[in-house]
Amino acid sequence: MVTGASSGIGAAAARALAAEGAGVVLVARRMDRLEALAAELRARGAAVAAAAADMRREADVIGMVALARERFGGVDVLVNAAGLGRRAPLASAPTELWREMLEVNVLGLAIATREAIQDMERRGVAGHVVHVSSMAGHRIPSPDAAMYAATKFAVRALTEGLRQELRARQSPIRVTAVSPGHVETEFAAIFAGRPEAAAETYGRFKVLEARDVAAAIVWIVTQPPHVEVHDVLVRPTAQRN
Ligand SMILES: NC(=O)c1ccc[n+]([C@@H]2O[C@H](COP(=O)([O-])OP(=O)(O)OC[C@H]3O[C@@H](n4cnc5c(N)ncnc54)[C@H](OP(=O)(O)O)[C@@H]3O)[C@@H](O)[C@H]2O)c1
Repeated sequence: MVTGASSGIGAAAARALAAEGAGVVLVARRMDRLEALAAELRARGAAVAAAAADMRREADVIGMVALARERFGGVDVLVNAAGLGRRAPLASAPTELWREMLEVNVLGLAIATREAIQDMERRGVAGHVVHVSSMAGHRIPSPDAAMYAATKFAVRALTEGLRQELRARQSPIRVTAVSPGHVETEFAAIFAGRPEAAAETYGRFKVLEARDVAAAIVWIVTQPPHVEVHDVLVRPTAQRN
């Protein structure tokens, strides 16, 4: 199951996992995008389902796991790629911009993870949860990105916290974060609130492609059962900060 599958890293992860033979549940709000990707993957022989879900709505998140149970018997791997950043200075931004980031990047991710883990445990599956975090979970990238960074620092805490919970009860389920630097997706335009920001952000030097991050995700989930990758930090070679 891949959240944020309508665009960017999530879409690339869904493609890469389907290419490895996984059945895939695609999740996002834009169902037209999901249907187009589902058609592409089915044409290559993959088993695919699509679920419309707003990660800010708990009922939607619970519903997407129910759909995975119905269509595939459950969730073996959850990739939490749904997320966004907003330019939102701490001294001036409207609360709503902060709330959206916190609800999608932190709460939505935590609810999806809880539901997937309960599903894995009910079936006795040694599953894997991957959080798409960010280099912004390791340092503050710019003064207007502190709340975004706070959500990604939170994802880092949730990754280590979940690891500790799982180890405390000797669960074979693994949890991993992947922390990219700049990746060419819809992220930059959404962050700045202007479409031209994409070319400005991604045109300065060769940034990562979404499939570069997807390759890391495939590597993470195909390690043998005794290997738990904790966090993969990956920057474009030319990125300075
Ligand atoms: N691009 C970068 O430079 C970069 C760097 C580090 C980390 N990241 C992280 O990578 C993750 C994926 O972002 P991306 O770069 O691939 O950006 P993207 O192209 O904008 O994709 C974001 C995805 O999240 C989904 N999403 C956003 N809000 C949602 C909501 N309320 N409910 C359900 N889905 C929602 C979007 O789907 P819908 O709009 O269709 O719902 C879309 O599929 C994010 O967590 C981001 O923080 C990105």
